[in-house]
Amino acid sequence: MSAVTTHIRDAIPADAEACAAIYAPYTTDTAVTFELTPPDAQEMAARITAAQRHHAWLVLEEHDRVIGYAYAVPFRSRAAYAWSCEVSVYLDRDRRGSGHGRALYRALLPALAARGMRTAVACMTLPNEPSLALHRSLGFTPVGTMHRIGYKHQTWHDVAWAELDLTAHTP
Ligand SMILES: CC(C)(COP(=O)(O)OP(=O)(O)OC[C@H]1O[C@@H](n2cnc3c(N)ncnc32)[C@H](O)[C@@H]1OP(=O)(O)O)[C@@H](O)C(=O)NCCC(=O)NCCS
Repeated sequence: MSAVTTHIRDAIPADAEACAAIYAPYTTDTAVTFELTPPDAQEMAARITAAQRHHAWLVLEEHDRVIGYAYAVPFRSRAAYAWSCEVSVYLDRDRRGSGHGRALYRALLPALAARGMRTAVACMTLPNEPSLALHRSLGFTPVGTMHRIGYKHQTWHDVAWAELDLTAHTP
C-alpha cells in the first residue's frame, strides 16, 4: 500500500473546477456559506485570480487530486482595512477531520503575513464546531456573535466572528 502524499501549493485557474465541486454541496445543503447558488468553474477561476492579487488561494492535493482549499479576501473595502483580510477553508466532505484544515491554514496564515496582512478575520455560521475548533486551535480569538444575521433554507442563522494577529506569523 502506498503512503498518502499530500501537498499544498498556490492554486492555478485550472484548479477552479475542483474547488467549485468541493464548495457546491456547502452552498446547496448547508448554511456554512450564505451563498445560495454554487459558483461555476469560470466564476471560481475569477475568484482564485482575484484572491491571489493581494492575498492568497492555496489548494491541498492528495495523490494529485485537489481535496481542499483555503483563501483570503479583503475584510472590507474601505482603504484603512487594507491590511485586514477574511479567511476561509473548505474540504471535500469526505476528507474532513484528518488535519487537512489545519495544514491549509498553517500554510495560508504565514503567506498572508508575508504579503503584509496584519489581521485575519473568520466568520462562522453557527453551529459549526469543526470550524470553531480549527480557528481556536490556530490561535484565533472570539470577537462576538451576530444573532439571526443570515436567512437561508427557511432558517435564521447566527454568525460568530474571530480574529488573529498575523504579525506573530510573519516569517
Ligand atoms: C472546518 C474544516 C475546514 C476543518 O478542517 P478539518 O481538517 O476537518 O479539521 P482538522 O482535522 O484540521 O482539525 C482542526 C481542529 O478542529 C477539531 N475538529 C475537527 N473536526 C471536529 C469536529 N467534527 N468536532 C469537533 N472538533 C473538530 C480538531 O480536533 C482540531 O482541534 P485541535 O487542534 O484542538 O485538536 C472542515 O471540517 C470543513 O471543510 N468543514 C466544512 C466547511 C467549513 O465549515 N469551512 C469553514 C467555513 S467558516
